[in-house]
Amino acid sequence: MKRKEEVISWLRDAYAMERGLEVTLKKQADSDDYDPEIRQAAEEHLEETRQHARMVERLLKSLGSNTSAIKTGVGMMTETIKVLGTSMSHDEQIKDLLTGYAMEHFEIACYRALSTAAETAGLENVADACDQIIGDEERMAERLSDALPEIVEKYLGESEASANTRA
Ligand SMILES: [Fe+2]
Ligand SMILES: [Fe+2]
Repeated sequence: MKRKEEVISWLRDAYAMERGLEVTLKKQADSDDYDPEIRQAAEEHLEETRQHARMVERLLKSLGSNTSAIKTGVGMMTETIKVLGTSMSHDEQIKDLLTGYAMEHFEIACYRALSTAAETAGLENVADACDQIIGDEERMAERLSDALPEIVEKYLGESEASANTRA
């Protein structure tokens, strides 16, 4: 595959990934089961994620491709997306938080690969856009990482308290 075609193909995967994450983030932002801090982070990153999808869509158009026939949440780069925000039980919120953190890093890896490929294909504008998106993903990952200890402590305290009332 020619380099430009490879870039187009990866951009299409990135588009599917962003659209899939929109659904996940919206669920988190709207759910009472999540910690307010996580809901707030999800709400803000949802806006950024929508913006990423629009940016990727514009890039695809500029390269003579489009987003038609892209199935959300599938593709080579998106196989690891887990469905989040399903029924809440026990430590589900913690697990979702870990998956969310992993997903941000997965996005970072995808865009770093894309940025490198775009640069070698002489597509500077694509590389620049990817680098810009990486900044947003890194900030979100950091936010989740910072929130994790407190949420874990809170969770452990709550499950201990409910075990005591049952005893
Ligand atoms: Fe993103
Ligand atoms: Fe993200």
